[in-house]
Amino acid sequence: MPRKLVAGNWKMHGSLTDNAALLAGVVSGAQGVNCDIAVCVPFPYLSQVQQVLSGTPVRLGAQNLSEHAKGAYTGEVSAAMLKDFACAYVIVGHSERRSLYAESDAQVAAKFVAAQAAGITPILCLGESLQERESGVTEAVVARQLDAVLAVAGIAAFANAVIAYEPVWAIGTGLTATPEQAQAVHAFIRGRLAQHDSAIAANVVIQYGGSMKPGNAAELLSQPDIDGGLIGGAALVAEDFLAICRAA
Ligand code: PGA
Repeated sequence: MPRKLVAGNWKMHGSLTDNAALLAGVVSGAQGVNCDIAVCVPFPYLSQVQQVLSGTPVRLGAQNLSEHAKGAYTGEVSAAMLKDFACAYVIVGHSERRSLYAESDAQVAAKFVAAQAAGITPILCLGESLQERESGVTEAVVARQLDAVLAVAGIAAFANAVIAYEPVWAIGTGLTATPEQAQAVHAFIRGRLAQHDSAIAANVVIQYGGSMKPGNAAELLSQPDIDGGLIGGAALVAEDFLAICRAA
């Protein structure tokens, strides 16, 4: 079983002042917690957070990147730029990017490759909408999203990647997948990777995301194929985030 990873996704939240307070709480509580911990922060705060986290066990991540290396892409941020701030992780294909910014499976795959090429571990988000779940196509959707990356990056790339299963209907809604629902999709994802390479599949971290909170984290994290969490709302409160880390 891989070591668990709990990553905060701050989304578009924060200020210099708020970040300092939140990070002070997270860092002081992170000592001695028996899992990997990361925070994925908005681009303007990479420098601030890098400095605060330096010398601590908490790793830095970003929430998006460009699939391009450089050039005339106004407003975009490259993998090399993230590497300049010692980002260990970058989220790719978050459902908000896919739905609000029309990121395609192919674009997500290109971002995954760009992150890895710079030595940054991508956190690849997969997940179905409520309508897709109700129509019984959850596995087909997750398979399509995963296969798009496998086709471009290959199975070996998953030795240096994290997957986050995030049912869209559970993100920020207070609705959480039941441990059984989440476990079933996690096992499906791991099984699909195992068709290519069973050792890589066994070792890849597959996080659950979608309204994970202190009250439901332990049960979710006790499932055999749930290796951590990608935490939105609860990552903005140090005590809640740390409670989830302790549950892991
Ligand atoms: P949530 O967000 O924990 O607020 O549901 C999770 C995510 O979007 O990564």
